[in-house]
Amino acid sequence: MNILVTGGAGFIGSNFLNLMVPRHPEHHFINADKLTYAANLENLAGIAKRDNYQLERVDIGDAAAVRDLFERMRPNMVIHFAAESHVDRSIHAPESFIQTNINGTFHLLEAFRALPKGEGQLFHHVSTDEVYGSLGATGLFREDTAYDPSSPYSASKAASDHLVRAYHRTYGLPVKLTNCSNNYGPYQFPEKLIPLMILNAVEGKPLPVYGKGENIRDWLYVDDHCEAIWTVIERGKMGGTYNIGGLNERKNIDVVHTICELVAEEKGVPKAELLKQIKYVEDRPGHDLRYAIDPAKIMRECGWKPKESFETGIRKTVRWYLGNEAWVKDVRSGAYRDWIEKNYAGR
Ligand code: NAD
Ligand code: TYD
Repeated sequence: MNILVTGGAGFIGSNFLNLMVPRHPEHHFINADKLTYAANLENLAGIAKRDNYQLERVDIGDAAAVRDLFERMRPNMVIHFAAESHVDRSIHAPESFIQTNINGTFHLLEAFRALPKGEGQLFHHVSTDEVYGSLGATGLFREDTAYDPSSPYSASKAASDHLVRAYHRTYGLPVKLTNCSNNYGPYQFPEKLIPLMILNAVEGKPLPVYGKGENIRDWLYVDDHCEAIWTVIERGKMGGTYNIGGLNERKNIDVVHTICELVAEEKGVPKAELLKQIKYVEDRPGHDLRYAIDPAKIMRECGWKPKESFETGIRKTVRWYLGNEAWVKDVRSGAYRDWIEKNYAGR
């Protein structure tokens, strides 16, 4: 089967390909990625030369390029990760979120719809729990929770979810959707909370906590997310939506404390010194208070459950960032971006 994975050079997509390409030699994986700032081909060094993997540099915002890709590759399955993914960036510059997350998804759906119908076809849409907006102190997001997105990012993901479902109802396109909570783990671009705090803690920089640090996120280790997606592809109902959560609700300030503790342990420095780097800064506008997922449906229907607790996953993650200084240096210095522009100029 030809499996087109969009955004496969980003954080979750690259972890997904690193797991699935070696495990499934019977499938051919095509990674379609624009290679934006959030992508990194170094993430894929372990699989880049495998026979069942190839990279295509494509902007899903470009309808003609997407049509051409689908005509050449004839994918049986699309697993759609590609997106602009950072809430803070969407507040400062929303346009690329509309272009990639909404128009890009539309172009993929149209190109997939234009292919001849066949056995095993599937469009799997990877989305976020942020489409549901904010919870108060109690309650959990379920698949039937009403959409109420707060940021341009989450609104653009909500629109893409609606398009995917509309293509199922209107055109009978075989689709499945997953909405998951905050991921963490190796290869995450250090603009998101966890890698940012790990690296700033090590480098003696301020640890910028928004507001009072009371906001709650439900942390999901990235491999658990990737396994959940594959499980839904194999066992989920066609047209179905599945929420994926790690059962790990934590206040932001507690996450930062845990990171300081682990970095202190690994580096042999006093935790109290690192805690002094915490700096409470102006809150994010429209900052959702709490996200928490009820994963009962995917557990019941697909037999999935997370393997990592927050304690085991965060320890692995801290160790990964401390042990991969070259990756961090390249991502931060822009050396990697320069390499991409030179090597992909005109392609
Ligand atoms: P990421 O920002 O790390 O990576 C996004 C990838 O998409 C990059 O490789 C980038 O080059 C590619 N991309 C961006 N614009 C593109 C375009 N126009 N055409 C082709 N490729 C393009 O994102 P991530 O954290 O890996 O998230 C992957 C998916 O999972 C996204 O759809 C996101 O909404 C969803 N999600 C992420 C989280 C999380 O915590 N990271 C949580 C829930 C859902
Ligand atoms: P983030 O990693 O941006 O994910 P999302 O906004 O998609 O949940 O942020 C996670 C939480 O951490 C969120 O409540 C905002 C907060 N945060 C900070 O307090 N400081 C920071 O520097 C960042 C990036 C996030």
